[in-house]
Amino acid sequence: MMDIKTAWEELRHRVENCRKCGLCETRHNIVFGEGPVENCRVVLVGEGPGADEDATGRPFVGKAGQLLTDILEKGGNIPRETLYITNMVKCRPPNNRDPMREECSACSEYLEAQLLLLHPDIVVTLGNVPTKWLLKTGQGITNLRGKWLNWRGIKLFPMFHPSYLLRYSSKAEGSPKYLTWVDVRALKSEIDKLKQQER
Ligand code: URA
Ligand code: SF4
Repeated sequence: MMDIKTAWEELRHRVENCRKCGLCETRHNIVFGEGPVENCRVVLVGEGPGADEDATGRPFVGKAGQLLTDILEKGGNIPRETLYITNMVKCRPPNNRDPMREECSACSEYLEAQLLLLHPDIVVTLGNVPTKWLLKTGQGITNLRGKWLNWRGIKLFPMFHPSYLLRYSSKAEGSPKYLTWVDVRALKSEIDKLKQQER
């Protein structure tokens, strides 16, 4: 059997050469994802690369990425590098628009292959795009965030997208930021619980 690292590099190579949707025309770099490949417990799925990610080839390195890092590390005491971080689409949608349905449809085989190879305990979806796509639901993130759901036997936990939080500065009780701080602590408890079970 092919080991995971070889399978992983083959998959990355396929994405680097991919021309399955129009986003290949304007990308500078694909953003495949980064994080632990062996013994990966948690995968985070964003929407798609922004300008900074397109320029560097790394996920969540711009403003939203800084906020995501703070949510994880300050809010949840979860070191960012312990998670695998990727996106629904691997090439940047122009002008930071949401990826379209056809683009998600073209790109989803790569995300699914990543999830099947990594085999995490938990998938965290950030915002509407990956949440609706993986769950095949019309329900929005406001309803689904903070709930433990299921994707092919893997726990799926939707949270607000950090870009959304950047537009709402309030931290008042019930605000998106407040709820995100609640959610990241719930995520941390679940990770700790899984670690306990392994012992
Ligand atoms: N927003 C996303 O959804 N993904 C990134 O990688 C960066 C910003
Ligand atoms: Fe291929 Fe996905 Fe990039 Fe579209 S977004 S060209 S499907 S890798």
